[in-house]
Amino acid sequence: MEEIIRNAAPAAEEPKKIILSGIQPSGIITIGNYIGAVRNWAAMQEEYDCVYCVADLHSITVRQDPATLRRRIYETLAIYMACGLDPEKNVLFVQSMVPAHAQLGWVLDCYTMFGELSRMTQFKDKSKKYEQNINAGLFTYPALMAADILLYQADLVPVGIDQKQHVELARDIANRFNQIYGDTFTIPEPYMPKVGAKIMSLAEPTKKMSKSDENANATVAVMDTKDDIIRKFKRAVTDSGSEVRYGEGKDGVNNLMAIYSAFTGKDMDAIADEFAGKGYGDFKLAVGETVADALAPAREKYEALMKDKAYLESVMKDGAERAAYRARKTLSKVYRKVGFVQPK
Ligand code: TRP
Repeated sequence: MEEIIRNAAPAAEEPKKIILSGIQPSGIITIGNYIGAVRNWAAMQEEYDCVYCVADLHSITVRQDPATLRRRIYETLAIYMACGLDPEKNVLFVQSMVPAHAQLGWVLDCYTMFGELSRMTQFKDKSKKYEQNINAGLFTYPALMAADILLYQADLVPVGIDQKQHVELARDIANRFNQIYGDTFTIPEPYMPKVGAKIMSLAEPTKKMSKSDENANATVAVMDTKDDIIRKFKRAVTDSGSEVRYGEGKDGVNNLMAIYSAFTGKDMDAIADEFAGKGYGDFKLAVGETVADALAPAREKYEALMKDKAYLESVMKDGAERAAYRARKTLSKVYRKVGFVQPK
């Protein structure tokens, strides 16, 4: 994985491509986030100019308990670092600490169409799920996400399949703005991970593993203990068959195989061979142990980081300063282009 990315990277004399991504601190970070996002981010930090945010402004589009949100902001940053993101090599920051996001978000709201936002699949899904709170922020959320991306002139945006539509909208907004005012924003491209794009729930394997799922047995958190991880995999829903083999209608087994593959690098045939003649029980235990062992070093680092809030806060402050410096340049260009006055 690292090798492939290294070979594809630009030559040293060219400026590094800019990458921006983020995760909302609105739940636990699942192994889906790890496989599909954070693990890949860590592999890119040498070759790219990477900016990663804890997207807390996005989280309040759904009602949050303040104390829990605050704790999760620390946790999310600690997980980034525990999974190998170096705060010196990357810009790691908390979105609400950089005012330019809200400021450009407003401007972009005015260049984003009602019809476009109405077509966003995630908005439609979330307005069904949170019927009592279909607020304006939930609706305009993709324009804020566009601001996150465009503020840093990002070339690439690593995201899972469920966010691809939002990145495409960010491109449309950027193109529209550039057409009216001349070159202002780099047009970003979605950058999809090759493996493990979608990890499903362990309890209902036809549904995506979601960080906000209320059923604790449906999700595996990156920071779950070894015992918890093994217990959850033991309980994972499979079908009535017994053979470890990838196949149609075997959503539970397929998902476990995909997870095992993501952590071992083995393909589906190799996994089927490895477990030939063994039952689901043995397989589930093996997946649990493999995942728990792979995550153990990150969990140790995470626990140490969470004991040192002062250090995490110093990383937040430094990251916010560096992010704000870059973001302000773009914002000021935008303000000037739309006609706002900015006395020196
Ligand atoms: N909306 C993304 C999610 O829920 C998180 C996010 C916020 C993001 N801003 C971003 C992702 C910018 C990529 C780029 O997963």
